[in-house]
Amino acid sequence: MKYLGIYFTGTGNTKIVCLKAKEELEKRGHSLDTVDVMTGDITNVDGYDGLFVFYPVYGFNCPKPMVRYAQKIKKASKDIPCCIMKQSGEHLFWNNASSLYLTSILKRRHIKVVNEYHYLMPYSFIFRHTDYMAYKMITTMNGLLPLDLDKFLEGKEEHMKRWFLDRPFAFVLRIQWWGGRFNGLFYKVENKKCIKCMKCVNDCPAHNISFNQEKGKFHFGYQCLMCQKCIMYCPKHAIKVGMFNSWRVDEPYTFKKQVEFQKERHPKYCKKNYERYFRESEQRIEESK
Ligand SMILES: Cc1cc2nc3c(=O)[nH]c(=O)nc-3n(C[C@H](O)[C@H](O)[C@H](O)COP(=O)(O)O)c2cc1C
Ligand code: SF4
Ligand code: SF4
Repeated sequence: MKYLGIYFTGTGNTKIVCLKAKEELEKRGHSLDTVDVMTGDITNVDGYDGLFVFYPVYGFNCPKPMVRYAQKIKKASKDIPCCIMKQSGEHLFWNNASSLYLTSILKRRHIKVVNEYHYLMPYSFIFRHTDYMAYKMITTMNGLLPLDLDKFLEGKEEHMKRWFLDRPFAFVLRIQWWGGRFNGLFYKVENKKCIKCMKCVNDCPAHNISFNQEKGKFHFGYQCLMCQKCIMYCPKHAIKVGMFNSWRVDEPYTFKKQVEFQKERHPKYCKKNYERYFRESEQRIEESK
C-alpha cells in the first residue's frame, strides 16, 4: 500500500514521529511519501491508499500551517482513511480537541479520520525536560507507534476521548493563531552573544527573521509560528523572548540516555499524568510481546 504523510514540525519532534511511522510502514512492505507542510506541494491524495497526519499540539490546537495545508488538499475521488499521530509535552485529554477542526476539513475532502493517537514528547516551550525524560518519551513512542499503526492497517478504528467543553476550551486557547502577530515585538537578539552565523535567519520555517547588514540589526516580522526553532537551535542562546523568556527551551534534545544527573525543573508538573502515561504504555508494550 502507498500512503501519504504530511507533517508540521517546529523543533523536530514531530518529524521524529513521522520518520518512525515511515520506518514501521516500510518494515511491513508499505511506503510513506512524507511532506513537510511548510515546503511540500502534494495536494492530490488520489493514488494513495491512506493519509497520515503528524503535528505537535500548540495551545491545545493543531498548528495553523497544518490547517492551511489541509485546506489546500483536493477532494479525493473515493473515500480515503486517515490516521492522525500527534504529539506534545503533556498527555492531557484537553489536547484531544486539537484535531476537530482538521478532521472536519479532511472530511469535506473525502478523507475520513479513522484512527487517532497522541504521544508524549518533550517540551519545546515552557521548560526543558531532562535528557532522561526525553529519552523515556521517545523510547515509549517507539514502542507504542508500531502497535497503533497495526490497528490502523488492520482497519480497527480508534478515536480519542472527548470532553464536553473541549471545543470552546481549545478555541479560546489557540495562542499560536494570534500570538505570531505579536511575537516579533518581543524577540530580540543579544548582540554581545550573537556570532552572526545566520542559522536563525536561514532556518526559520516562516522566513520571519531578517538581518540588516547596514544597521547590523535583526528584524522579526509578523509571521512567527511560535515554533521555537530559532531559540532552541541558536548556538549562543542569543535570542530573548521578552515576557516569555523564562519559558525558552534553548538547548536541543539529544534523545540519548542521560549520563549525568539532571534535576527536573518542575518535578511536580503533570507528575500523575506522566506516570499514568508511562505505566499504561509500558503495560501495553509488554502485553504485545
Ligand atoms: C507555541 C507552543 C504551544 C504549545 N502548546 C502545547 C499544548 O497546548 N499542550 C502540550 O501538551 N504541549 C504544547 N506545546 C509543546 C509541544 O507540543 C511539544 O514540545 C512538541 O513536542 C513540539 O514538537 P515539534 O518539535 O515538532 O515542534 C507547545 C509548544 C509550543 C511551541
Ligand atoms: S542563530 Fe543565534 S548566533 Fe546565529 S545569527 Fe541567529 S541569533 Fe546570532
Ligand atoms: S521566528 Fe523563530 S519561533 Fe518564529 S517562526 Fe521563525 S524560527 Fe519559529
